[in-house]
Amino acid sequence: MLSDQKIILRPLGDRDKEDLTRLANNKKVWDNLRDIMPFPYSLDNAAFFINMTRQEKPQMTFAIEFDGQFCGVIGLVIQQDVYKRTAEIGYWIGEPFWNKGIATTAVKLITDYGFDQLDLIRIHTGVFEYNIGSMRVLEKNGYTKDGVFKKAVIKNGKIWDEHRFSIIQ
Ligand SMILES: CC(C)(COP(=O)(O)OP(=O)(O)OC[C@H]1O[C@@H](n2cnc3c(N)ncnc32)[C@H](O)[C@@H]1OP(=O)(O)O)[C@@H](O)C(=O)NCCC(=O)NCCS
Repeated sequence: MLSDQKIILRPLGDRDKEDLTRLANNKKVWDNLRDIMPFPYSLDNAAFFINMTRQEKPQMTFAIEFDGQFCGVIGLVIQQDVYKRTAEIGYWIGEPFWNKGIATTAVKLITDYGFDQLDLIRIHTGVFEYNIGSMRVLEKNGYTKDGVFKKAVIKNGKIWDEHRFSIIQ
């Protein structure tokens, strides 16, 4: 478990199924994520996801809790082969919890975990061009923009640039 005052990162469990479904089943969240994220998001999708993350050793996916309430998910995906000391970071916060500094703290906690406990050298991610809030979250945590992958993304049938961010140990 990783924590900073009111914000805790902990493994997901069965008790999160309803909250996960309710908060993930939101087009405004989905619009900023890859299409592998189901939408609409069902209880079965939540159960499958929780089950998948239960087997992780070390833990790579975390529920984000704010003031004791489940409010989102954050995770690292370790890359393969020569990239094995790089991870991709991904996260989302349920809409009722936006703009309270939660993602900023969650990214800080998991970035420190990646460097201190997983021995990573680099953490990176891609942000769709219209997601200014997420870019701000990364910048507030010391991530810098590596560049713009022009027209790399097709989302909602439209083509978008992807802004790539990273931080190194
Ligand atoms: C993006 C997201 C993670 C931000 O989470 P959050 O908990 O609201 O973020 P925080 O409150 O920690 O910080 C948000 C920052 O972005 C700023 N911001 C938010 N929306 C903005 C906008 N449209 N334009 C400019 N700045 C914006 C906020 O003012 C804040 O910056 P500040 O602290 O300097 O004022 C959340 O909105 C979300 O989950 N969205 C859907 C999924 C997603 O985008 N995931 C990330 C994919 S890369």
